[in-house]
Amino acid sequence: MDKALDINLQRFTTHKLFAGLLVVCFFWMVYVKIYSVEMYDPETSKLPSIGRAKNATHVSPFEKWIVVTSIHPPTDDVKYLAQLPGWRVVVVGDVKSPANWSYQNCDFLSIGRQELLNFKITDSLPYKSYARKNLGYLYAILNGAKFIYETDDDNRPSDNLEGFIYTPKTPGLMYAGKKLFNPYQHFGQSTLWPRGYPLTKIGAVNNRSYWLSSSWTSPTIQQGTVNGDPDVDAIFRLTRKSATSPLNVTFDSHAPPVLVPQGVFSPFNSQNTLFHERAFWALLIPTGTTFRMCDIWRGYWAQRLMWEIGDRLAFFPPNAHQNRSAHSYMEDAEDEKDMYFQTDFLIDFLTNWTCPSSMTFFQCVLKLTSDMADKHFWKSEEIDLTSRWLEDLLELGYPEPTRVIEVLTLSENETLKLEDYNVLHYDIFQHETRLINVTLMPVEQKSPQVADFDMQDSVSQQAFESLSKICPNITKLVNGPIDIFYSQYYYDILLVIVFNKPGFYYNVRYLDALYGDIFPNIIYCGDNAAQFMEQTKNLGKQFSFIEEPLDMGIVGYICAIRAIEMNFNVKGFLIMGDDVLFKHWTFLNITKEHFWTTFEGTRTFINVTESNHSWAGWKGKAGKPAFDKTMEDLNSNKNVPQYINNTSLFLDSIWNFTGQRGIIEASLSDLYYIPAAKRIQTSWYMTRFYKNHFFSEIAVPTVVRGLETKKGMILINGSSLWGGARSRPFKFYSKVQHFFHPMKISNSATLLDVCNVYAPDVLRYSFGLTLSNNTVV
Ligand SMILES: *[C@@H]1O[C@H](CO)[C@@H](O)[C@H](O)[C@H]1NC(C)=O
Ligand SMILES: *[C@@H]1O[C@H](CO)[C@@H](O)[C@H](O)[C@H]1NC(C)=O
Ligand SMILES: *[C@@H]1O[C@H](CO)[C@@H](O)[C@H](O)[C@H]1NC(C)=O
Ligand SMILES: *[C@@H]1O[C@H](CO)[C@@H](O)[C@H](O)[C@H]1NC(C)=O
Ligand SMILES: *[C@@H]1O[C@H](CO)[C@@H](O)[C@H](O)[C@H]1NC(C)=O
Ligand SMILES: *[C@@H]1O[C@H](CO)[C@@H](O)[C@H](O)[C@H]1NC(C)=O
Ligand SMILES: *[C@@H]1O[C@H](CO)[C@@H](O)[C@H](O)[C@H]1NC(C)=O
Ligand SMILES: *[C@@H]1O[C@H](CO)[C@@H](O)[C@H](O)[C@H]1NC(C)=O
Ligand SMILES: *[C@@H]1O[C@H](CO)[C@@H](O)[C@H](O)[C@H]1NC(C)=O
Ligand SMILES: *[C@@H]1O[C@H](CO)[C@@H](O)[C@H](O)[C@H]1NC(C)=O
Ligand SMILES: *[C@@H]1O[C@H](CO)[C@@H](O)[C@H](O)[C@H]1NC(C)=O
Ligand SMILES: *[C@@H]1O[C@H](CO)[C@@H](O)[C@H](O)[C@H]1NC(C)=O
Repeated sequence: MDKALDINLQRFTTHKLFAGLLVVCFFWMVYVKIYSVEMYDPETSKLPSIGRAKNATHVSPFEKWIVVTSIHPPTDDVKYLAQLPGWRVVVVGDVKSPANWSYQNCDFLSIGRQELLNFKITDSLPYKSYARKNLGYLYAILNGAKFIYETDDDNRPSDNLEGFIYTPKTPGLMYAGKKLFNPYQHFGQSTLWPRGYPLTKIGAVNNRSYWLSSSWTSPTIQQGTVNGDPDVDAIFRLTRKSATSPLNVTFDSHAPPVLVPQGVFSPFNSQNTLFHERAFWALLIPTGTTFRMCDIWRGYWAQRLMWEIGDRLAFFPPNAHQNRSAHSYMEDAEDEKDMYFQTDFLIDFLTNWTCPSSMTFFQCVLKLTSDMADKHFWKSEEIDLTSRWLEDLLELGYPEPTRVIEVLTLSENETLKLEDYNVLHYDIFQHETRLINVTLMPVEQKSPQVADFDMQDSVSQQAFESLSKICPNITKLVNGPIDIFYSQYYYDILLVIVFNKPGFYYNVRYLDALYGDIFPNIIYCGDNAAQFMEQTKNLGKQFSFIEEPLDMGIVGYICAIRAIEMNFNVKGFLIMGDDVLFKHWTFLNITKEHFWTTFEGTRTFINVTESNHSWAGWKGKAGKPAFDKTMEDLNSNKNVPQYINNTSLFLDSIWNFTGQRGIIEASLSDLYYIPAAKRIQTSWYMTRFYKNHFFSEIAVPTVVRGLETKKGMILINGSSLWGGARSRPFKFYSKVQHFFHPMKISNSATLLDVCNVYAPDVLRYSFGLTLSNNTVV
């Protein structure tokens, strides 16, 4: 073992032995220290009570801390941070910072105050260094931090930091691809890469494969993407940024967050990043690298170490905006040089690296630091810094995480298998959550160019072209280009198209032509992902897909549950059968804040005590027995989460709709809309029914009625055809009704009707065109 490490490990272990004692002393020491400081330094009167917060059960008013460094007087962005509800700011100063720095809800650590804090790392920190931020982290921990958000003084969160995950568990997507993940591709900028991403891999495309779970252990490091001038390297700015205007990148704000599994690397920075307490050890900024590399290499170091304790990283859709001041990109490039040439080696090295099972986690942290120094990725000064950092943490009473038994890494081109997840994510066993196969295609955003020329077709032009692929004759109806404004009404709705039966996936061709441009976010859902891929592979485009057995549609609403669990950042979810014709122009003025449902179809009232009701689904296993079991669960009001409170309100609301307690209603469940505000409740109630394998045509109407008021409910109407009517559906078509069901579009007579009747209506009512001819040949 390297000598320096040996000494540090000894030093560190000795200290650890005394850690218990030290913690006790420390309360007293810090208290005395601060108390005595107060006599000299008037600023300390603003200090929150240092020391007391270390009581683990003590609920500090400052559980959430923002840490920034600044050499300026309070910038507008720092002032903005200071007013975020629930957060306290610590600003770490340096020699250039104004001595009289002061702003409400901010603690300013001048160089003088930094020294008075008497942390062990202080002596290892150079002046004029970003690494002084480390003192801000320790200060926050000292004052009861459970979450630390780190950012810079030119960065502004756009959602009050509410989009991050603070709960211990979360539903969501986990990347299921190869060893490197480019988050910018996932958020719709396929030609961008984050600073620190290995240059050799820029041309590689992320896998589109993800695992969905309703309950992961939450990621303990969370990186938000940033709009405006995001974190990219100098190579990108030199080649892709216009010299005359600032970068203005927009990532897909609707895309779901993504967890990065163990084994997969992805660079993250210190500019818009949330740390849970379990990951506070990973905050340490090194002192020996250049400014443009320090947080990136810290990130790779941290990721490898996180796997030792079963933790992981996640990326979030844009939740901040950055305006960078102009600076020299050539100087940046110089600063980033090692990053360009060494990152591949670093990743290889980290993949191979192991820590002996006899070591504690903090010993592994120190060992990795030392091993990285041996290989000249770090300077040797990081060893001492890390050792002091860990001592500081222990003295603050920070709980050292325990290691997990097994860590898997990936060789090039390898991906994690389902079995690997069972090993890695022990939480799956504990909570019996099933992993769902999801394919997710990013929604491509406008990409930044040196010369700002816009060659993209307008959305209406694209929609017209898509429609004319299946209905070529409509081109004869239109004179001249379609460059009219087109409503973006559906841009913040996720459309979920449910295939009750597998084997009809070739219809995606038609569905995509009808809805693909109107809804940028569409996800198809049904049995058998392999068959879906096979039947859609020649369409010149890939599609998003959730693989779920739907049992011929009996439990089709599981698609809604899964779509909600993916955490798309949308206003609502429109769930639609693959055989519904959706007349989008009829919805344009409907609110997205309430449920939409229909009373169409085989609308039937059922007395729940009756076992012989004639409604087809009621007598089978998915009928009354499953319903009774679900009601038993709901009535018992057991294991009800806080966001539900009490199921009796839900039940009362159902009886309000049907007019009598004990009467429920069956109706069409092929078209309904769930507002995002009710997504969690909807998913919870639907899951109660799903667990008992209850029939969709009662489960959906029941949940919708249980969660919406009679006044708020949006009733949508349409033609719902049965028997003979289904052979010639367009006889019953009406342009003012919202939908039309069922419609087998692959049937050639039906396709003709779609093209001759529906398509011209799209041109008229969605695009507002005056057609050259009202009747089509
Ligand atoms: C720690 O907190 C608990 C609960 O608030 C309190 O009873 C106890 O006295 C505190 N201990 C110290 C040392 O402050
Ligand atoms: C701090 O000092 C500077 C220059 O002396 C002055 O312009 C500024 O207003 C002062 N700020 C505060 C908050 O007192
Ligand atoms: C940046 O782009 C967004 C979205 O296109 C736009 O709303 C915003 O005004 C642009 N900002 C600047 C400074 O150009
Ligand atoms: C990692 O291990 C593999 C196989 O043992 C070896 O071929 C490779 O050179 C190692 N890479 C590094 C960077 O140590
Ligand atoms: C990984 O895939 C790339 C591209 O297909 C190939 O060039 C490379 O040799 C593969 N690496 C390994 C280790 O198989
Ligand atoms: C398009 O028009 C031609 C005649 O002009 C007709 O034969 C054909 O069936 C039409 N196709 C569709 C899809 O309407
Ligand atoms: C999901 O299913 C598709 C099609 O069978 C397959 O290609 C993909 O690898 C699966 N994803 C995962 C993560 O196993
Ligand atoms: C929606 O409302 C606007 C004005 O409120 C009206 O001009 C427009 O015709 C309405 N559109 C539909 C489809 O009802
Ligand atoms: C449902 O049926 C039971 C048994 O026939 C009857 O007692 C009850 O009154 C009925 N409930 C309603 C609301 O009609
Ligand atoms: C649950 O109760 C809390 C407070 O007790 C309240 O704020 C919240 O609105 C309730 N939620 C529902 C769904 O009733
Ligand atoms: C049921 O309807 C009554 C009368 O319209 C209303 O006062 C009550 O709030 C409703 N209850 C629920 C749970 O919707
Ligand atoms: C519309 O179509 C009809 C029937 O094909 C044709 O007779 C008529 O001339 C067309 N009108 C126009 C304005 O193109």
